Amino acid sequence: MTADTIGVGLVSVGWMGRLHSRAYRALPDHFPELGVRPRLVVAADPVPEARDQAVTRLGYERAVADFHEVLDDPAVDVVSICSPNFLHREMAVAAAAAGKPFWIEKPMGRYASDSRAIHDAVERAGLVTSVGFNYRHAPAIQRARELVRSGRLGRITNVRGSLLADYSSDPDAPLTWRFERERAGSGVLGDLLSHGLDLAQYLVGRIASVTALGETFIDTRPRPGQGIVDRTAAATGERGAVENEDYAALLFRFEDGAVGTMDSSRVMRGPHAEYTLEVYGTTGSVRWDFQRLNELQVALDGQEVDGYVTHFVAPGDGHFARFQPGAGTAMGYDDLKTIEAAQFVASVLRGEQLAPSVADGLAAASIVEAAEASLADGAWHDVARVDGRVTTGAAAPVL
Ligand SMILES: NC(=O)c1ccc[n+]([C@@H]2O[C@H](COP(=O)([O-])OP(=O)(O)OC[C@H]3O[C@@H](n4cnc5c(N)ncnc54)[C@H](O)[C@@H]3O)[C@@H](O)[C@H]2O)c1
Repeated sequence: MTADTIGVGLVSVGWMGRLHSRAYRALPDHFPELGVRPRLVVAADPVPEARDQAVTRLGYERAVADFHEVLDDPAVDVVSICSPNFLHREMAVAAAAAGKPFWIEKPMGRYASDSRAIHDAVERAGLVTSVGFNYRHAPAIQRARELVRSGRLGRITNVRGSLLADYSSDPDAPLTWRFERERAGSGVLGDLLSHGLDLAQYLVGRIASVTALGETFIDTRPRPGQGIVDRTAAATGERGAVENEDYAALLFRFEDGAVGTMDSSRVMRGPHAEYTLEVYGTTGSVRWDFQRLNELQVALDGQEVDGYVTHFVAPGDGHFARFQPGAGTAMGYDDLKTIEAAQFVASVLRGEQLAPSVADGLAAASIVEAAEASLADGAWHDVARVDGRVTTGAAAPVL
C-alpha cells in the first residue's frame, strides 16, 4: 500500500460484489480526506461471465476462478468477501491467515460456530475488518441513535422491528443456496433478522435473551441448473425441500431491561423491502422504514406539534452532506455501502476498528443461535456474550 493507493481484491462478483466495487470507486469523490485512490486489482468467481463482468464492467485489472489467487497477490491490501454464506468461513479464515484486512458480507457464515471461527482468526491475526451491516449508516439511523443515546427519548421501554421482503414470494423461484441449511444456515433469521438485530443493538444496547417461532410457508421449490447459485438461476422442474425458515418472530430482552419484538418474512405479497425499526421511550419515540430511507418519524414530549413529525435527513445527520446538498434530495442504498467502504478503509489506515466488526457479526449470530435453539424447544434462551471489539456500544468510535 502506498500513501494514496489501496489495492482491492474481490471474492465473488454477484450483487454484493458489484456493490462493494462501486463503493470503493466512489471513495475519492465522497471521502476525499481519506486521500486514497482504490486500485481494483483482482476479482475471483468460478463463473466465467462474472469474471468477464469484473474486468469489462467493474474495472478490475484481472479476474480469476480461485479466490486463493486474490489472497496471494501482493498488490492486494484489502479484500471484499461477497460469497454465499457457506464459503464465508473458509475464505475469511484464509484471508486472516494471509494478513489481509477484509470486508465481509452478513450473515458472517452460516452458524454462530462459523462466525466464532472467523472472529477468533481475526483476533489472532490482529486485523481490522468490516461486516455488511449497511443500514446502520443511514443518516436517519445516525440521528435516531443520537436521540436515544442523548436521553432525549427518556428511558427506552421497547423496540419493535419488522423486516418484510418479497424476494422469495414466487413459489416457483429456484431452490438456490439460500434455502439449504448446509449452504445458507438459517433462513430469514440470518439473512434479514441479523440486520434488524444489529440495528437494535446499535441503537439501544445488548440483547441478552430471546424466544422465537418460525415457519416455512413454501416448503418445496424447483431445483436450479447444475452448479448455478445465483438467485436468477433457471429452474429445472424437479422440486426439492426448502430447509430453513421463511418466517420468524422474536421476543427479546435487552440487558438494561428494555424489551423488544421483531419479525421477518422473505415470502410476503405486498411489502418489497419493508425494513422498519421503532424505538419507544418514556419521553419520545422514533420510527424508521428503509423504504423511506431519508425520513425519520419523531415524537418528543414538548414538541410543538402533537404526534409524529417527519424529519427529512439533512446536512448534519450522519454523512448526508457528503452525498446531497440539502434535505429532500434523497440518498440511496448504494451510498450506505460507500460509507461502509470509507469506514473500512479508514479502519485499515488508522489501525482502529471503526466499521461494523467481526465481533458485531458474532454478536448478531449469537442472537440467531439463541433464537434457533428456541425454535427447537420453544423456551427462552440467553444470548452468548461477545467480549471482542463490538462497535455498538455508547462509546463506539466514529468516522
Ligand atoms: N448487506 C446486505 O444488505 C446484503 C444484501 C444481499 C446479500 N448480502 C449477502 O452477500 C452475500 C452474497 O450475496 P449476493 O446476493 O451477492 O449473492 P449472488 O448470488 O448475487 O452472488 C454470489 C456470487 O458468488 C459466486 N461464487 C460461488 N462460489 C464461489 C467461489 N467458490 N468462489 C468465489 N465466488 C463464488 C457466484 O458465482 C456469484 O457470482 C451473502 O452472504 C448475502 O447474505 C448482503
